[in-house]
Amino acid sequence: MIKKNCAVFISGRGSNLESLIKEADNDNFPIQIKLIISDNINAIGLKFSKTFNIDSYPIDYSSFKNKKEFEQNLLNKLRNKNIELICLAGFMQILSSEFITSFSGPILNIHPSLLPKYKGLNTHQRALDNNDKVAGCTVHFVSEELDSGEIILQKSLKINENETAETLMNRVLRLEHQAYPEAIKQIFS
Ligand code: GAR
Repeated sequence: MIKKNCAVFISGRGSNLESLIKEADNDNFPIQIKLIISDNINAIGLKFSKTFNIDSYPIDYSSFKNKKEFEQNLLNKLRNKNIELICLAGFMQILSSEFITSFSGPILNIHPSLLPKYKGLNTHQRALDNNDKVAGCTVHFVSEELDSGEIILQKSLKINENETAETLMNRVLRLEHQAYPEAIKQIFS
């Protein structure tokens, strides 16, 4: 199988990145992780670059004149590395429509709620505040509007009594680690 070259964009811990890297080790998984991009030069998830011997590109937004230059730099890097697919995994910047239309391949994102519920931040607390009975995660294509692109796959769980935002975050995160690889298989297999 010819695997698609993928860049994973992170800003922090990188647990979804780790799960994708491990999955991509299987011969029959349709992508290989070629590059880790982080807009936070101190992101913990950058350690996976060393652990798994994958190129990383920590890029500091504040060292560019503006968002356009920052994104142009990113696009050049992606082109140089022949990246065909972007997976956003806890990447906390909003990419401009110019970036999204300029990149030639699909851009995917994982979001910690059952979209269209709870776009943006603080998803777990908002689900609890609304007395929701279920929560979950969504893998979707990135479109120009935040957290609104076509949904590829969702996974849900029952919210427990006495659930806190933290316990819910941890339980949903475990679902995310299954959902992202499954969504990628679904698209490319
Ligand atoms: C994940 O829960 C992901 O869904 C969320 O950030 C976390 C990153 O964790 N993404 C967003 O909130 C994007 N809007 P990780 O760094 O351990 O993968």
